[in-house]
Amino acid sequence: MSILSGKKVLLGISAGIAAYKTASLVRLLVKQGAEVKVIMTPSSKQFITPLTLSTLSKNHVLSEFTETHDDNPVWNNHVDLGLWADLFLIAPASANTIAKMTSGQCDNLLLATYLSAKCPTYIAPAMDLDMYQHHSTLENLEKLCDIGVAIIPAEEGELASGLVGYGRMAEPEHIVSYLSDHLLHSAPWYQKKVVITAGPTHEPIDPVRFIGNHSTGTMGYHLADVAAKLGAAVTLISGPTSLKVNHPNIVIQNIMTAEEMLTQMKLCFKESDITICAAAVSDYKPESMSHVKLKKSDANLELILVKNPDILSWCGENKKKQFLVGFALETHNALTYAKAKMQNKNCDLLVLNSLSDAGAGFGTTTNQVTLIDKQLNTIPLELKNKRLVAEDICEFILNHYND
Ligand code: CTP
Repeated sequence: MSILSGKKVLLGISAGIAAYKTASLVRLLVKQGAEVKVIMTPSSKQFITPLTLSTLSKNHVLSEFTETHDDNPVWNNHVDLGLWADLFLIAPASANTIAKMTSGQCDNLLLATYLSAKCPTYIAPAMDLDMYQHHSTLENLEKLCDIGVAIIPAEEGELASGLVGYGRMAEPEHIVSYLSDHLLHSAPWYQKKVVITAGPTHEPIDPVRFIGNHSTGTMGYHLADVAAKLGAAVTLISGPTSLKVNHPNIVIQNIMTAEEMLTQMKLCFKESDITICAAAVSDYKPESMSHVKLKKSDANLELILVKNPDILSWCGENKKKQFLVGFALETHNALTYAKAKMQNKNCDLLVLNSLSDAGAGFGTTTNQVTLIDKQLNTIPLELKNKRLVAEDICEFILNHYND
């Protein structure tokens, strides 16, 4: 899966022969999993039809401030469009559009949307070589660059005029890889290594039975996805769950027992920047596993359980630079127990789940947690979807990573 997957891309097309290449550009963006909406300047429709672009983007193509639908005038809200987008790509960006962007003119929907947009803007200039090298164009590009617009450089080659030189719009493949690289490098956790434990552990009694718990792993998997989308390289050490991961930044290590989880943790903890222990590890395991199925008899069966390693405690004892996050699941005296865990396990953040709260705990899509920071301040969060809880936890880490 690409970093562009799920991104909302607004593609602005201005008038230039390179507009014909936007059909491939839309196709490539959609193939990467992006949702694409297209805005065209009125003159750009001479170079490629809105029908082609709406078919490829699967969205209505916009060009005018107002349109008529069933005899009713409809306003195309440029403010909403600007807020909808995760990124605004203007390709091709003609010399005229670049000049108008620089001076804040907005005599068409594309320019009005540019002025309203809050998201990062990228432009792929396309024009003849003399226009590209003209003092005014260079000055305009510099001004846009200074205010944070990313310029995807034009490429060298044969131009529509027959001249050869710089000015061709970057090839659609190059635009897509520029966007991917730029998004990745500007991601807050780019080059950060994050290790997450998730799910239950299964401690075998015999070949068919085990000691486990109700954990589904949902919280840990959401955390892995959020961290990956923030640009981190994530190792997800997962106990048995039915969940799947689908992000190129996530490497999954499947384990069954607490011992196996600790072995995996020992392999990656030293290199990690952030470690989050969200797994519901079984505290005890049978002293020995029977290699044949235990047969039923009239007598009671007694199992001797011995302690499992505590992975979070091991991380707390061995941590150097790592930001360490633990979870606590409590049924009573929640805050007292959680604060003790926070200190005993040497965490930087503890996430308290209280099973006594409705909508929190195992098997629910929602969770109600309280964050406990290093100074033992408590920050109760509202009951919310586990995905949003994962985002809140990562935001807390982002804000306190260097404390
Ligand atoms: N944890 C762990 N290894 C264990 C037990 C727990 O890494 N063997 C981690 C969990 O992933 C969690 C934190 O420790 O981040 C607290 O887990 P919890 O089950 O709430 O507490 P325990 O330490 O097991 O104590 P108790 O069960 O007595 O509450």
